[in-house]
Formats: sequence, C-alpha cells, structure tokens
Amino acid sequence: MTALPWSLLPDTAAVDGDGHLVIGGCDTVRLAAEHGTPLFVYDEAHIRNRCREAVAAFGPGAVYASKAFLCRAMARLAHEEGMAIDVSTGGELHVCLEAGVPAEGLVFHGNNKSRNELRRALEVGVGRIIVDSFDELDRLQSLHEPGRRPPRILVRVTPGVEAHTHRFVSTGQDDSKFGFTVSSGAATRAIEEASSSSAVDLVGIHAHIGSQVFRVESFAEALRVVADFAKPFDLPELSIGGGLGVAYVEGESAPSITEWAQAMKDAAQALGVTAQLAAEPGRAIVAQAAITLYTVGTIKQLPGIRTYVAVDGGMSDNPRPILYGSGYETFVPARVNDHRPRVIRLVGKHCESGDVLVLEGRVPEALEVGDFIATPVTGAYGHSMGSNYNKVLRPAVVFVSDGEARLVVRRESFDDLLITDLG
Ligand SMILES: Cc1ncc(COP(=O)(O)O)c(C=O)c1O
Repeated sequence: MTALPWSLLPDTAAVDGDGHLVIGGCDTVRLAAEHGTPLFVYDEAHIRNRCREAVAAFGPGAVYASKAFLCRAMARLAHEEGMAIDVSTGGELHVCLEAGVPAEGLVFHGNNKSRNELRRALEVGVGRIIVDSFDELDRLQSLHEPGRRPPRILVRVTPGVEAHTHRFVSTGQDDSKFGFTVSSGAATRAIEEASSSSAVDLVGIHAHIGSQVFRVESFAEALRVVADFAKPFDLPELSIGGGLGVAYVEGESAPSITEWAQAMKDAAQALGVTAQLAAEPGRAIVAQAAITLYTVGTIKQLPGIRTYVAVDGGMSDNPRPILYGSGYETFVPARVNDHRPRVIRLVGKHCESGDVLVLEGRVPEALEVGDFIATPVTGAYGHSMGSNYNKVLRPAVVFVSDGEARLVVRRESFDDLLITDLG
C-alpha cells in the first residue's frame, strides 16, 4: 500500500506543489514530455557525492568501475571528482580517452585482453593493468619495447572465497574464468613470473570477491583470505575490487561506501596489511543516481490472475530482471507520494515472454494508458548492458543538476540502426 520509499531515489529528489518528482531541480514529468521515453535521468549531485565519498574513503585507491555506466560525461565527472576509472575492454578505454581522462588515471581489466587492446594501453600509458592470465603476461612480454617504461601491473587472483549478498562463502574450488587460482599455485607462479620480468612493474594484488554484497563483514572475511595470501609478497598495493550492494526495493538497506571502507581498513589493520587499499565500486556510485521513465502503452487485465502494464522499453534498457531475476519498484512520477495499492506486472515491448521489468510492481489505483511510469535505482548495469534487440532504439540519457537538464546521450534514431549495415 505504501508510497515509494524515498531512500530509493537520488540524493536531490524532491516533490513539487503538483506532487511531481523533481530531481536535480528538474520536474521529471516535464523531462519525460520534452525528451520522450524511455529516458534515463541521472542526478549529477548524487554521482558527485558518491565519488567524493569513495575518494575520502580510499584516497588514490578509489576507482570507478565504468562497466556500471559509461559515457563521456560520466567519465569526465568521475575523473573531475578524483576517481581513477576501471575499464575492462578497448571500447571502455576508448570512451574514457575520448572524454579527456588522462591514461594515467585508468585501470585496465579484462580476462581476455587482445594484443591490440594491450598495445593501445601501453602506447597511451594506462596507470595500471590488472593481469588476468599467463597468456596476458606473455603478450605483455612480447609487446615490451626496450626504453619504454614497463606498465605497472596488479596480478588478479582467485582466492576461492566469495562475499555473497548476505554471506561469506568459501567455495573451496576456483571455477572461474577470472584471475590466477590461489589453491593450485598458479597465483604464486604468476607473481614470481611478473616479479622477474623486465616487461612489467608488479605493484600489487587484486581480487574481486563479490557483487551486490550487503554485509561488510562478508567483505572483511574475504579480505582476510586475500591479505593472507598477499602478505609474503609485500607489494605496495592491494585491490579488493568492487561489489558493494545497493538497495533496489523496499525493505533493503546497504552499507555506505564509508562504512564499507572502514570495515576494510579495520580488517587490513588487524592483519597488519600496510599496502595501499584500492576499491572499484561501480553500482554503489551510480545505481541510485538514476531513474528510468517510461510511457504506459497497453494495459491488459486478466481478472483473477494479474494486470500487465506494457511500456515503451524493456529488456533492451534493463536486462537485469531477465538476467539475474532482479527486483525493482515502480511508481508514477506525477504522483510520487501517492500510495500504491495496485499490483501490476511491468513488461516491455519485446517479442519475448520473459521481457519483464518488474514482476510485482505497485502503482496508484488510477493508472492509464499515456501515463508516465518509472523504475528507480536503474543507474547501474541498465544503460550499459542495454541492447538493440528487436531493433528497439536505445534511450536517451540526461544529467540533471541545479534545475538544468543536459542531454549526454541522445536517443538513437532508426538511421542509427543502419550505420554498420552495409546493405
Ligand atoms: C573486477 C571488478 N571490479 C569492479 C566491479 C564492479 O562491481 P560493482 O558494480 O558491483 O561495484 C566488477 C563487477 O563485475 C568487477 O568484476
């Protein structure tokens, strides 16, 4: 029955005299009317606040994981706020460089970096490369040019532990495509190989130990295992990857970046870790910064079963529900504080029965075709994981701040669909 919990909305969310949701001083109903839907609306102040929190907590070890959401405006913003940026493909590297982010501020990830990607990374001089395999070490060796400063690298290890949503799990096995396995001795061999190579400058160890993790204790326990492994090598940097969870639906709550960092620092101190801690939050920086606005196009009532509300987007702008079974809330931005007694299933426009955005969304009693409807907490892994399935056009993205809306990614056009199609 309840209204949308305010805690799921971006930092600057407010309500105006008409009951409309305002973000960054902009009326979201007006934004939907002016820019069309689906539309991603990002609160610039919210992103800046989270970046500042990460920098205050981790100092030079604060890295934004750009896979969560990336466009040039986002890269500039993270860089302006003092974060380094994690890129995991040549494409993400290109966007960040085109945004004007200095290569020194980039951390290059990926389990299968190609020769060309590595060559580019070396040419531009990325700040760190997170080495993931012996093949990658070989490639770096063969690309090495005498006289050129070797890249600083961290070796990514798979420690056989995971920090799950609510649990710390010792998997006991290392069935992962990422990193060097600790239990088999591969991680130690990689460190020995990297230390003796003149093609790389080994500065640290990296482990990504979970995703959408709500308990900082789980992280701390996982860090203990990683730090134990790292200790004998006495390297100056230790990265704990990303993975801090965020609340998506009513009743969930997640630790702040500050709380996360404090738990990591306490655990590191107790273990006598002197290495500079680095962390790569993605979701925790951008997820709650954005909402997605849609227009209701079709309402199908199945008496005694359910009501389907179909909108003008779907799995192409948010594949998380279909990929991970993720839950979201729904609300009507023109009546953001209204109670939501009606249960609906929010679905997209794709030719796919699984094209569900919200399995059990709640809306005010009166909902009509033509109304705008929104999902909060869509700033991470929505736009970035989006697609053109069914040749549906990718939505526009606006950044809002101080009453100004800035279009940072325009909506695709039908002609865009033909750009790479040679007929
Ligand atoms: C190596 C690494 N770093 C950082 C992240 C970002 O994770 P999150 O967005 O959950 O913080 C990921 C996510 O997959 C990752 O694999």
